[in-house]
Amino acid sequence: MKIIKARDYNDMSRKAANIISAQIIMKPACVLGLATGSTPVGTYAQLVEWYQKGDLDFSEVTTVNLDEYKGLTRENEQSYYYFMNEKLFSKVNIDLKRTFLPDGMEPDSDKACADYNGIIASLGGVDLQLLGLGHNGHIGFNEPGMAFEAETHCVNLTESTMKANQRFFASMEDVPRQAYTMGIKTIMQAKKILVVISGEDKADIVKRAFFGAITPQVQASILQLHNDVTIVADEAALSKVE
Ligand code: F6R
Repeated sequence: MKIIKARDYNDMSRKAANIISAQIIMKPACVLGLATGSTPVGTYAQLVEWYQKGDLDFSEVTTVNLDEYKGLTRENEQSYYYFMNEKLFSKVNIDLKRTFLPDGMEPDSDKACADYNGIIASLGGVDLQLLGLGHNGHIGFNEPGMAFEAETHCVNLTESTMKANQRFFASMEDVPRQAYTMGIKTIMQAKKILVVISGEDKADIVKRAFFGAITPQVQASILQLHNDVTIVADEAALSKVE
């Protein structure tokens, strides 16, 4: 596990974008696993800037996102599809037919998850998976206690995750209660993993996840067993481990 210390959020975003750029340059037809949430926003903005300068070409890239809320349409501003489209897809020359997220509007959870596992398998797996880190150690929507063996599955979101997500919704009642997410098994099968983390509020969980015991109670702790993980975190996020 390699830990790259960034000065601040902007520096973290630039460093992470550099790693993603390198992946695209080395393998133009790569499969990128992508994340939503606030942490990667700056990374996507940096990638868009480099694309606009002519330094990056997304024309052969395929993307698979970690997760999607169950029951939200793609047009819903809080859906992860909408987020990805706004932050990245609509701003670069990616072929939208090669951008995948779980189908939040598929009411049959088993079908939605099997379909998504099928898509990832048909792509030959993920070359580089980008992850954020939840305050409770979740990655994707894999919440504390969930089996490490899971592939894409439907989850009931915990109260703490719903509260953290509330800032994006008009009220707590509007926050979806379920989501489809890649499982830990799916995530661990990615060839390379890049985790972006920013802020003092993540310092405790950084310590528990990457310097503590490997346990389903801290889902991200399993990343300690992956052979190609790079963590790009700012000084504030790393403040409890040095
Ligand atoms: C997003 C996702 C989540 C977030 C995590 C951190 O697709 O799967 O695991 O990465 O909740 O979110 P932020 O970056 O908002 O702190």
